Amino acid sequence: MRRREFVVGALGAGLAASTMPDRVLDGMPEALSGASQGTSRSTGGMASASQLRTAIPFGAAVRVDYLADQFDYKTAILEHCQIVVGEGGLKWIDLRPTRDDFVFDQPDRLIAFADANGMKMRGHTLAWYGAMPDWTQQIASEAEAEGELVRHIETVVGRYKGRIPSWDVINEAIADNPTADAPFRDSIWYQRLGKRFLELSLRTAAAVDPDVQLVINDYAIENPTEQCRAKREALLAMLRDLKDRDVPLHAVGIQGHLLGDQEIDKEGLSRFVEEVSGLGLEVLVTELDVIDNKLPASTYDRDQIAAATARDFLGAICDVKRPGAILTWGITDRYTWVPMWFTRDDGKPNRPLPLDVNYRPKAMMQVIEDFTRVPA
Ligand code: XIL
Repeated sequence: MRRREFVVGALGAGLAASTMPDRVLDGMPEALSGASQGTSRSTGGMASASQLRTAIPFGAAVRVDYLADQFDYKTAILEHCQIVVGEGGLKWIDLRPTRDDFVFDQPDRLIAFADANGMKMRGHTLAWYGAMPDWTQQIASEAEAEGELVRHIETVVGRYKGRIPSWDVINEAIADNPTADAPFRDSIWYQRLGKRFLELSLRTAAAVDPDVQLVINDYAIENPTEQCRAKREALLAMLRDLKDRDVPLHAVGIQGHLLGDQEIDKEGLSRFVEEVSGLGLEVLVTELDVIDNKLPASTYDRDQIAAATARDFLGAICDVKRPGAILTWGITDRYTWVPMWFTRDDGKPNRPLPLDVNYRPKAMMQVIEDFTRVPA
């Protein structure tokens, strides 16, 4: 039985097709749980709060082509996920082959899959330095950059208005080694617009879809290193500046590409989540995986260390605030971005994700289940 069906069946609660409730509804429906005062199928009446329990919804980045031609892959996504996000498809490199073209085939197929299976779809991502088509390097002026960025966001967010409830509007805006004078990462947008591209992106997305959850997404904030401390501080400074100027923003996406050989700075990460929450922002875990290139060769040892690292990371966040969702960046070791950058010296395949190459759950999946199941 799929996890999704089991949870709904066990609760006997009628829910909007896309919800997977597990915890007492916290009042306002959340963008990604879709939790709402559904009707109880058994009684037909309004389900009580004790019946409607919203879990921390779980999901994964998906390669939409594999949904079409790989049964086991599609089955794993259907069994484990309430949320999907395109690993590609909504990045400029996929969406914008030329200045005049928008190619929506991939995201259209993914939103159709999500809608057909009662899932929510996240949008990733509107303003990033990465995966940019060559023609964008020709954007020559501030006015041209503003025009292209606004047109892109208006067209893309507009197309999926009311269907994609949560967008990584801005991805990885903070420099890898930020300083007080230079906190931001280089990108065509920062080059042409300065930090104004942040506000422009957020305000444009909000104007197109006032109901969409606007997320700023970043990584490498979870270890007890000077780099992670500096990134946390730079991220918080940016968030405070945006909130002080009433720029629309709803959540911070903590990517969670965890270095398996490094410990989690539980105190530093928890304090960061407290600060984010104090700004009135939600927290999402958006791209969880464990980079194991420096872990022991033994698959058992690696899986245990990866699971423990994920547990420490999720614990440091969930001890402070319930994330609106937990997503991994892929679902199976068979398809992961990790070897693009983090191959192992011994040549063994990476094992960063909750399911192994044969879709068998690993220790990490148990950790994810522990954090997303009904509270005792
Ligand atoms: C990666 C994809 O997984 C790769 O397939 C693609 O070639 C490059 O981008 N952080 C992010 C994601 O926000 O968009 C990146 O995804 C991984 C790092």
